[in-house]
Amino acid sequence: MDGRFVIHGGKPLQGEIAVSGSKNAALYTLAAALLSADPVTIHNVPDIADINEMADVCRSLGAAVEISGTTVHVQARDFTSTSPPIARVMALRASFLVMGPVLARVGEAGCASPGGDVIGVRPVDVHLAGFRALGATVERSGAEWLARASKLRGTRIFLDYPSVLGTVNVMFAATLAEGTTTIVNAATEPEVSMAANMLNSMGARISGHGTGIMMIEGVDQLHGTEYEVIPDRIEAGTYLLGGIATGGDVRITNADPRSLDSLLSKFQELDAKVEVGDEFGVQVSCPHPLRAIQVQAVPYPGFPTDLHAPMAATLTQVQGVSTIHERVFDNRTLYVGELRTLGARIIVGGQSVIIEGGGNLSGAVVRALDIRAGAAVVIGGLAASGETSVAGVEHLDRGYAHLTEQLTALGAEVARI
Ligand code: UD1
Repeated sequence: MDGRFVIHGGKPLQGEIAVSGSKNAALYTLAAALLSADPVTIHNVPDIADINEMADVCRSLGAAVEISGTTVHVQARDFTSTSPPIARVMALRASFLVMGPVLARVGEAGCASPGGDVIGVRPVDVHLAGFRALGATVERSGAEWLARASKLRGTRIFLDYPSVLGTVNVMFAATLAEGTTTIVNAATEPEVSMAANMLNSMGARISGHGTGIMMIEGVDQLHGTEYEVIPDRIEAGTYLLGGIATGGDVRITNADPRSLDSLLSKFQELDAKVEVGDEFGVQVSCPHPLRAIQVQAVPYPGFPTDLHAPMAATLTQVQGVSTIHERVFDNRTLYVGELRTLGARIIVGGQSVIIEGGGNLSGAVVRALDIRAGAAVVIGGLAASGETSVAGVEHLDRGYAHLTEQLTALGAEVARI
């Protein structure tokens, strides 16, 4: 269901909502389920298009996948294919994550270079180097990468870059390798840790996850599990930023403040008021005029690249000159032209975005060009006076469950037509 979002902006977002399960973490759980022949049940899976796409990728390999509300049942008793069709792979980047599990279980796996958001060069060399280090031969055959190994063997692997999906894919493969694998320079994102915890609940022996050095003692096989996906910190961050952009007061009841340190510290620098619960819950409001800030998007626990664009939209409402320096992807700034259409004073210089905030935005016709660029124009539209019409809604559907309902619950005037 595509269409457009129509936003009548200028109203502060106020109230409380709960966010869905993490998009990225949920995608990892579907791929992780392929490591066992037993049934796996996953709860708190977000109702977003990317989950349906990932389910189809798993089904194309012969796995049974049943989605029932926010619960997903997966069983990969046998594989009928070891490589998903290219059209499925192109639908989302996480499709490449099936390679590690299938290689580990069957001894061979193929996958084309994956699709996903056009946010920069997105190679897979970290994944492939990891498979090679575990003893697989990896070669290119047409559009596909093919990996083969009669038995994977644990070893010490240094990742050139702490790639998030690269870490997860190599961890997946290593769970069934002979001996111990140490991944040095591993990604430390909470979603990676959660995937490791899920695998441990299936009988894997993984330690050090959440730090840059992860150890995986290989086991012969993994059994089924029932697992709950963590709340989406990026979705939470997006609504909190919407609250600040509109001068509102937003509480996310199930946000984990420990996963939002970098964002909450930027809120403090902005002079917004931040309140956190003991375990869960984050509230943000703006009792004072806000101050311009500098932001660098870097790997976790630094400021997340996925909140770069929503933060930029928010900073258009803050008096003074703010900057965002993008250090993860080289094409994260597609949203800039769209915010300019709304009247934002914002320019790109290399990997930096410079925002002269405090001016008024006015409603216009804009496009969501990727998931997070889409979130930025929605925040811009909420802050702008008058009507904003957002095309490219399919991008937002990939990452934000029930966006209109969530925003309406916070008092926004928004409709999908
Ligand atoms: C994941 C997330 C995405 C998030 C990103 C960074 C999913 C489905 N997606 O994407 O939402 O924005 O982490 O937090 O979980 N790189 C290499 N070689 C590789 C792989 C990556 O050089 O083999 C580089 C990329 O070009 C990029 C950087 O590493 O500059 C970050 O990419 P990576 O961490 O791999 O992001 P993804 O895992 O694709």
